Amino acid sequence: MPYTDTRRSRDSGDNGNARTIVRIDVTMNKTILFSRQAIEEAITELARRINADYRGRPLVVVGILKGSFVFLADLIRKLDLDVTVDFVVLGSYGSGTTTSGEVKMLKDLSAPIEGKDVLVVEDIVDTGVTLTFFMDTLRRRRPASLAICALIDKKARREVQIDVQYVGIEMEDGFIVGYGIDCNEQYRNLPDIWVLRDEDGS
Ligand code: IMP
Ligand code: MG
Repeated sequence: MPYTDTRRSRDSGDNGNARTIVRIDVTMNKTILFSRQAIEEAITELARRINADYRGRPLVVVGILKGSFVFLADLIRKLDLDVTVDFVVLGSYGSGTTTSGEVKMLKDLSAPIEGKDVLVVEDIVDTGVTLTFFMDTLRRRRPASLAICALIDKKARREVQIDVQYVGIEMEDGFIVGYGIDCNEQYRNLPDIWVLRDEDGS
């Protein structure tokens, strides 16, 4: 049975309803919750593939802040490669659960990537707008190679075609939080991934 977390978010939804974190039973509702164990298994498999594909080559891992920071921290500790880490801050979502459609680079990389193998690490690929913008920006800097590793792929909501070489977990629609992923800066510290719903269950 689904059950409701005792914590309630202080913010309100667009319709003014309070939001509640609801843990969804995967089989009953076809809405997905990812436990910390499921996340760990997905990351182990991602790391296995990345280790095999980049064996013997230094890799620049680029995290998109803030959503990817927990995922990136777990992923790189499973990489048996010569890894360096850099971060960017991109702004796409304003506040709440809908995208503004506009992408800005709020903090750039701290080092050049020309001639390097670069792996971009993202929490969620949703419409694909954010990553399309960012990959175009990075491509102009002439890295030796450029690939994307996303923990979550919401394929059904894609608006722009984008190749994501490494996907941890696929899901349908639904707004999720936890494991670094936020709603209005809350819930990043939850060790599992939860679905956020309005109180009326929508
Ligand atoms: P896109 O440009 O629509 O692909 O947006 C991707 C970004 O939107 C992700 O990196 C997240 O920061 C944010 N996002 C997309 N879906 C969710 C969600 O379910 N929860 C929290 N943030 C999300
Ligand atoms: Mg993000």
